[in-house]
Amino acid sequence: MLASSALSVFLGATVALASVARVFEPSTLSVDSRRCGTFISEEDIIAAEKHFEANKVSLMDRPQAKRAPGSAAIDVYFHVISADSTPEGGVLSDDVIDAQMSVLNDGFAKSGLTFALANVTRTLNDDWFSNAGPNTTQQDDMKQALRVGRADALNLYSVGFKNTDHLGYATFPVNYTDNPWDDGVVFLYSSVPGGAMVNYNEGKTLTHEVGHWVGLYHTFQGGCSEPNDYVSDTPEEANPTSGCPSDAGPSPDTCPSTGVDPIHNFMDYSYDSCLDEFTTGQNSRLKDQLATYRHIQI
Ligand SMILES: *[C@@H]1O[C@H](CO)[C@@H](O)[C@H](O)[C@H]1NC(C)=O
Ligand SMILES: *[C@@H]1O[C@H](CO)[C@@H](O)[C@H](O)[C@H]1NC(C)=O
Ligand SMILES: *[C@@H]1O[C@H](CO)[C@@H](O)[C@H](O)[C@H]1NC(C)=O
Ligand SMILES: [Zn+2]
Repeated sequence: MLASSALSVFLGATVALASVARVFEPSTLSVDSRRCGTFISEEDIIAAEKHFEANKVSLMDRPQAKRAPGSAAIDVYFHVISADSTPEGGVLSDDVIDAQMSVLNDGFAKSGLTFALANVTRTLNDDWFSNAGPNTTQQDDMKQALRVGRADALNLYSVGFKNTDHLGYATFPVNYTDNPWDDGVVFLYSSVPGGAMVNYNEGKTLTHEVGHWVGLYHTFQGGCSEPNDYVSDTPEEANPTSGCPSDAGPSPDTCPSTGVDPIHNFMDYSYDSCLDEFTTGQNSRLKDQLATYRHIQI
């Protein structure tokens, strides 16, 4: 849920405030954690990883630079959903979309992956804006109406999540084959750079969710037990991180294994200001995931 301070910042009109009061609960406004809605059970992870191991198209297996330099850009289809025609109602300007794309590209710069805006659609639909979320008919309708491209196309949907407290959620590469129409990232419109979602308004929610879309799990997946997130150079951590603990002192170290918690990793739950890295291991995994399931070779 939005914090009441954020709510009053971006809702100038009392009329608007009154009309949204039923869906927001201002008392829960202090969002102290990222609340990603991307879901996969431990059981399904084991099955998915077995499939990945058996079918992996590895970096080692293919000649580099099969594509011309610069052609590895992923086409991005950005679907802006809004409740009305105002920024408060979900409209994102072209400048904001460009700023969000820059944050996304900066986040993945070390991986060699780049994202190019291929198209922007703008849809006025209060029901989708308010209610599209994991397992809802609204998200099904929205995606079936708007999704374009194949496995290698990234479809983004910015929405309001008025009835849930998600910042975003994504599908994994392994999900594409069964439900191509479902593939993509749905994220909170106010998480964009300069948006109203305090502490989560530098655009890194999208970086995190695209991290799932390229095949990464949370760094806290599996807690202190191997194989956690299936990446060897992200230290184990017992729980998602809240806030940015290193601002106040040393980074927490919640598991006995080597290394402090990866609180600066995009796949943790820290504040946007705290997040600035994917590891070498994550970059290697995402390239193999993309080559295996999305036919993208970097
Ligand atoms: C994606 O696939 C995994 C593994 O099969 C499954 O657990 C998960 O629910 C799927 N997610 C979606 C959005 O279909
Ligand atoms: C691009 O977006 C416009 C609306 O802005 C839409 O009419 C058109 O169908 C879109 N094209 C593709 C390929 O998605
Ligand atoms: C979506 O549905 C699956 C079962 O199909 C469930 O396990 C999962 O928790 C649901 N996700 C949310 C966010 O409700
Ligand atoms: Zn997540």
